[in-house]
Amino acid sequence: MSTVFLVGAGPGDPGLITARGLDLLRRAQVLVYDRLVARELVQEAPIGCLLISRDGLSQEQVNELLVKHGRRGRRVVRLKGGDPFLFGRGGEEALALRRAGVPFEVVPGVSALASVPAAAGIPVTHRGLSRQITIVTGHGAGGDDGLDCAALARTPGTLVVFMGLEGLDELSAGLIAHGADPDLPAAVVSRGTTDEQEVAVATLATIAGASAGLRTPALLVVGEVVGLAEALGPAAVADRLLAAL
Ligand SMILES: C[S@@+](CC[C@H](N)C(=O)[O-])C[C@H]1O[C@@H](n2cnc3c(N)ncnc32)[C@H](O)[C@@H]1O
Repeated sequence: MSTVFLVGAGPGDPGLITARGLDLLRRAQVLVYDRLVARELVQEAPIGCLLISRDGLSQEQVNELLVKHGRRGRRVVRLKGGDPFLFGRGGEEALALRRAGVPFEVVPGVSALASVPAAAGIPVTHRGLSRQITIVTGHGAGGDDGLDCAALARTPGTLVVFMGLEGLDELSAGLIAHGADPDLPAAVVSRGTTDEQEVAVATLATIAGASAGLRTPALLVVGEVVGLAEALGPAAVADRLLAAL
């Protein structure tokens, strides 16, 4: 029997958690949650549940907490943004639990990967436009393990960059310097799926300027599919509704 559940909370809209995740959350005895998860979800924990914010804790401290409460046989929910195994360090937590002999289960979540672009009217694949997706993190991209802009510039399809807002200037310049088309459509979706969602649509050459001032969390999408945002995004829906009046 599992005692620790690594649960994906989804991208921001509290309605996007899975039914299994919500059920476990409502029966949790200990809840360890990320800063990015919707407050409404934290409020789903039952009265008496021990609530622990991950804010200010190191990954090692989180691992230790999960092992400690798991060993006591408590029903522990580790609520993580998006999907636990996609840039979520869920694998590290699972390994720590496995090493400690604490049973656990991973409950997948709706990742920002496709849901956040979708909320802006961008399908990450589209027949005739993109049949492959490259997913990278822009976090620390300037360091030793920096992104391979030459390889990314050569790769067809859609590029999705997590945690890329800070280094956006450098990244877009790097891609263009390595041969990417400066006129490729590009979008930054900030706080996607939430009431605070903001979207900047531009080109690879202009997206850094166009998205200045947008807040994290934000996702960068580059590729022809971004062109569909005009027809499929929330603004397009609003325009159609107005036209129908
Ligand atoms: C540490 S990663 C976690 C990703 C998560 N595990 C997932 O599957 O979506 C955090 C990054 O995901 C992206 N992200 C998560 N939620 C988002 C949202 N609502 N809107 C835009 N980007 C989001 C941002 O790039 C953010 O910096």
